[in-house]
Amino acid sequence: PRKIIIDTDPGQDDAVAILLALGSPQEIDLLGITCVAGNVPLALTQTNARRVCEVAGRSDVAVHAGRAAPLRRPLVTAEHVHGKTGLDGPELWEPTMPLAEINGVDFIIDTLRREPAGTVTLCPLGPLSNIAAAFEQAPDIVERVQEIVLMGGAYFEVGNITPAAEFNIYVDPEAAEIVLTSGVPVTMMPLDVTHKALATRTRIEAIRALDTRVGHFTAEMLDFFERFDVEKYGSEGGPLHDPCVIAYLIQPELFSGRRINVMIETSSDLTLGMTVADWWGVTDRAANALFIGDVDSDGFFALITERLGRL
Ligand code: BDR
Ligand code: CA
Repeated sequence: PRKIIIDTDPGQDDAVAILLALGSPQEIDLLGITCVAGNVPLALTQTNARRVCEVAGRSDVAVHAGRAAPLRRPLVTAEHVHGKTGLDGPELWEPTMPLAEINGVDFIIDTLRREPAGTVTLCPLGPLSNIAAAFEQAPDIVERVQEIVLMGGAYFEVGNITPAAEFNIYVDPEAAEIVLTSGVPVTMMPLDVTHKALATRTRIEAIRALDTRVGHFTAEMLDFFERFDVEKYGSEGGPLHDPCVIAYLIQPELFSGRRINVMIETSSDLTLGMTVADWWGVTDRAANALFIGDVDSDGFFALITERLGRL
């Protein structure tokens, strides 16, 4: 199985991504979860990550708290999408599993130094603050990363937090720039693909029909999560952004994209955090990312439902 660290800000869709990884031990060896401030502040994201592990009966997973803020900016959150707790929907409880003592940024550094070079994949599902902080603190780890598969950015689908920017990149554009210029192979799941991965009513009901604790918990999260897109945009369901990252590691053939150059806007107020993606190859800038544009959404939901059913 592929060794990964999930870096996350749960977030209902982050939660489904974690569950998908935990349900796929043959393909995924989850070394640990590092939490970051994003959808909601860090105190909530690290609590939510522990709740998700407990739902899956996996209180043994190491959950670390990382950065409470972006590298050089104040935090912007998204309670309007995820609710006050970040995980609105199911009834929530105080988790009993402990938070790991070591800081999330240090955990990323230590793990990359300890494991053989080229064997650990980073899976960022929130703002890139922890990853960039680790790269800045310990430049020696950069070349040891196997790959970064992240959720973030947008090109044809433009923005979801501003007209120009996707949330994860907008919140910490300097961190995103550090990651995209690091030289590490990057695969990006932008809104272009995640807006094709919609949790429709039928798909949510299939998950509820698992009739397990994980199935009910997930369906209740998605009942809440879809309201935003369905009510505001008349969409058929909420986009399941973050699970695309994990599904790609399990079944890459579900996805397609292009290897292109992507640059991050870090100064303009108007387009801050925009992922300027050279999809048509109109510059001679070298490719630095595999930018995913399409997904077999039925195959994607079949995979999620089946793997959640194993928990
Ligand atoms: C991203 O932002 C968050 O709201 C989601 O969890 C996802 O990671 C989508 O723009
Ligand atoms: Ca997220």
